[in-house]
Amino acid sequence: MEYITLNNGVKMPMAGIGVFMMSPAEAEAAVESALKSGVRLIDTANGYMNESGTGRGIKKSGVAREEIFLVTKLWPTVYEKETAVEETLARLGTDYIDLLFLHQPTANWREGYKNIEKAVRAGKVKAIGLSNFPDELLREAIDTAEIKPQIVQVEAHPYYPQTELKKILAETGMGLMAWYPLGHGDKNLIQEPIFTKLAQKYGKSNAQIILRWHIQSGNVVFPGSKNPAHIRDNFDIFDFALTEDEMAEIAKVDKGVRYYTATPEMIAAYAKMELQPDL
Ligand SMILES: NC(=O)c1ccc[n+]([C@@H]2O[C@H](COP(=O)([O-])OP(=O)(O)OC[C@H]3O[C@@H](n4cnc5c(N)ncnc54)[C@H](OP(=O)(O)O)[C@@H]3O)[C@@H](O)[C@H]2O)c1
Repeated sequence: MEYITLNNGVKMPMAGIGVFMMSPAEAEAAVESALKSGVRLIDTANGYMNESGTGRGIKKSGVAREEIFLVTKLWPTVYEKETAVEETLARLGTDYIDLLFLHQPTANWREGYKNIEKAVRAGKVKAIGLSNFPDELLREAIDTAEIKPQIVQVEAHPYYPQTELKKILAETGMGLMAWYPLGHGDKNLIQEPIFTKLAQKYGKSNAQIILRWHIQSGNVVFPGSKNPAHIRDNFDIFDFALTEDEMAEIAKVDKGVRYYTATPEMIAAYAKMELQPDL
């Protein structure tokens, strides 16, 4: 495993698993299987409505809590709720979160940020993240925060490597967690000829080449998978390295295209979207 050290000194594994679009039972099984395969970074969210299942998967794995880097996200409808962090901890069945995000730049996110800062001071949260924040709001959050953020979580993959955002992150020593690291499973991306060529050279799969590109670009990855073989493969990317020329060749597949762009209307709707109970 390779690690990044966040700008507050917290050490974070660079590869793990995300449980977006999984039922609580699916998340429970995926988390248990991932932890048993050696994965130590888990990414969930209030909005995925599977934090309870994630917590059960952690317990069932038998892996000690302090060995796990647990990431979750507050949903906009709870940003102003004083008990938001406590309720999140209760669902996860833990007494601290390694990294807590604001999931969307909407509703009263400024108050939500203060809520997370309070939880950091109380030792319940170790690091702060901002997910899906456009550059201007990211800059505002950085400038106004009493406790500066450590990392962003945004869509990133070889078709959209986030070159502009990375300049802001470099100024502040912030990291990047790449969501849709495999383009949400898009075969066009995964089967780009350059990945097939490098997969043959290194005896790896195309997906592993893409994930290795992320690691060498400094991105933390947490691909979603319900397939135990994929979960194991996605973690087996630390025994080879792409050359500088190969990284440069991969840079040429940048299309400047995202799979998902939230319109202002969608972002406004997130502010009102109530979550179902997470069982
Ligand atoms: N912050 C945000 O707003 C936000 C938004 C979206 C997602 N996310 C996070 O990002 C994580 C990853 O996103 P994602 O799961 O949608 O997209 P992804 O990781 O890019 O792609 C997942 C897809 O790739 C397939 N796959 C996984 N490993 C593979 C492998 N080794 N070979 C071939 N195919 C493979 C999976 O199918 P199989 O099940 O068959 O393996 C699945 O269809 C989510 O779980 C979530 O935690 C965050």
